[in-house]
Amino acid sequence: MPAVLFHSKNDSPEDWEAGLAKFIPNLDFRVWPDVGDPSEIEFALIWALPPGSLKQMDNLQCICSLGQGVDHIFNDTEIPEKTKIMRLVDPWMAQAMSEWILLNVLRFHRQGIEYEQFEREKKWHVLPPPETSDCKVGILGLGELGSDAAKKIASLGFDVAGWSKSPKDIKNVKSFSGDNQLEYFLNRTDILCCLLPLTPETDGILSSKTLSQLPRGAYIINAGRGRHIVDEDLLKAIDSGQISGAALDVFHEEPLPEVHPYWTHPKVRVWPHVSAQSNAGSAAKQVADAITKVFGGKEPDNLINRKNQY
Ligand code: GLV
Repeated sequence: MPAVLFHSKNDSPEDWEAGLAKFIPNLDFRVWPDVGDPSEIEFALIWALPPGSLKQMDNLQCICSLGQGVDHIFNDTEIPEKTKIMRLVDPWMAQAMSEWILLNVLRFHRQGIEYEQFEREKKWHVLPPPETSDCKVGILGLGELGSDAAKKIASLGFDVAGWSKSPKDIKNVKSFSGDNQLEYFLNRTDILCCLLPLTPETDGILSSKTLSQLPRGAYIINAGRGRHIVDEDLLKAIDSGQISGAALDVFHEEPLPEVHPYWTHPKVRVWPHVSAQSNAGSAAKQVADAITKVFGGKEPDNLINRKNQY
């Protein structure tokens, strides 16, 4: 029987092996770097495998990202054209992400940055209450995660818009698309949440130029990838008052180096890439289905478009 290769820094191989065994009892599951005969590997379930590691696996049919993003796979430029690439699409992860986005939207909307500062100063100080329907939340990226978050935020009465490559039809969510509508979308966004895939087109999308197109005092929430943000530009924008605060779950370098100014900035909250962790309990079935299809010579679900890189 063909074999599956597993690699991750954070996910437990034991959990995945046990999760997959419920659906494919005799699965030949190999954990990197114990590959065995590389020609037996037909399916790779991986997160951030060192580039070049897959090239000796001549029979590799499909690579499944152990997450929603596939940018880590494209860091390897030697993956053969014939190898299919897929990712997890898991309602459990979408719910987790929406919770994390909501937590931060609500903290900014309910003047958390200000009240936390008053608390540090032991000041009993009351600000005028904010108006939910006046608060404009913008979601960059309306894929599986972005559209779930947009719907849930809209259900609380916020004025929600999204920006994506092509227009989207989501109830109570205004849709902006393409490069020529980005500025207009940013102009009307008080709280910006980035849930884009990282591609050559979205790398560095939040720079001095785009941050200056937000209304003064806007907030940034990033659960996409660290490279969506030009860090120096964000720090400058916060220090000038253009941006009032940021909640970040993803960084250029992870773990975030101890010397990075984000760690100690009073207006930046750092999270250790936990907004939507992959979960063998909820996702093993879809991965097992994909393995069964691939081993049977069929195409699995949730393939990504290699040209678009998402
Ligand atoms: C996590 O960052 C993921 O891509 O799922």
